[in-house]
Amino acid sequence: MESETMVLLSSREIEKMRQAGRLAAQLLDHLEPMVKPGVSTLEINDEAERWTKAHGAHSAPLGYHGFPKSICTSINHVICHGIPNAKQILQDGDIINIDVTPIVDGYHGDTSKTFFVGTPSPVAKKLVEVTYESMMRGIQAVKPGARIGDIGAAIQEYAESHGFSVVRDFVGHGVNTTFHTAPQVPHYGKAGKGKKLRQGMVFTIEPMINEGTWEAKVLEDGWTAITIDGQLSAQFEHTIAVTDSGVDILTLPD
Ligand code: MF3
Ligand code: CO
Ligand code: CO
Repeated sequence: MESETMVLLSSREIEKMRQAGRLAAQLLDHLEPMVKPGVSTLEINDEAERWTKAHGAHSAPLGYHGFPKSICTSINHVICHGIPNAKQILQDGDIINIDVTPIVDGYHGDTSKTFFVGTPSPVAKKLVEVTYESMMRGIQAVKPGARIGDIGAAIQEYAESHGFSVVRDFVGHGVNTTFHTAPQVPHYGKAGKGKKLRQGMVFTIEPMINEGTWEAKVLEDGWTAITIDGQLSAQFEHTIAVTDSGVDILTLPD
């Protein structure tokens, strides 16, 4: 992950981020009907690439530090950064996170959701619901004067209260004309610790929550991160801005 001095965005720059974020959210909505048994993750990737270009944008993941595809598709025990593949066919009962980042006029809109393929198991359904709510609690902790640690504490407290664990190895990140920049935003931690939030900060909140242990390992492909115990992992992601009084979610479809 690159790091640099944290920048504060002007309201004009935040509107550019919102345009990118809106397209990202609309792309997820566009892809959702493809999430069905029998569809390959490469088919979803290729439709994402086609649609993104048709909307005058391009896909930040493609070629990013050598990543070979346009989106990330992370199924079941894959935590994040799964690579779309023609041989990987969605099956009834799977959960799949689709993570998209179109670049619109230089600005990145970074968002992801976990979808059910057909009918989920009870534990898969609970994990996905708890992961979404944990992201929302993290977002609700954001306001000027709050601390980065308040976000992770809210997420961790909620996820662990349901018996799940928080991935440590991947964090939220500042995002603007650069894909990954300061600050780092852990999804675990202590309230009152870390950098103070200020109006104009823009970053992602993207908790990865595991059914079992939080430990991750990366496969030989150099990208695919999986749970070491083979149990499920879910994730949701929004890009947000700190406002004068609270938080503004930039990755909403309208
Ligand atoms: N979109 C991912 C994130 O939320 C990053 C994907 S980088 C890639 O930060 F190279 F794997 F595509
Ligand atoms: Co993302
Ligand atoms: Co991100």
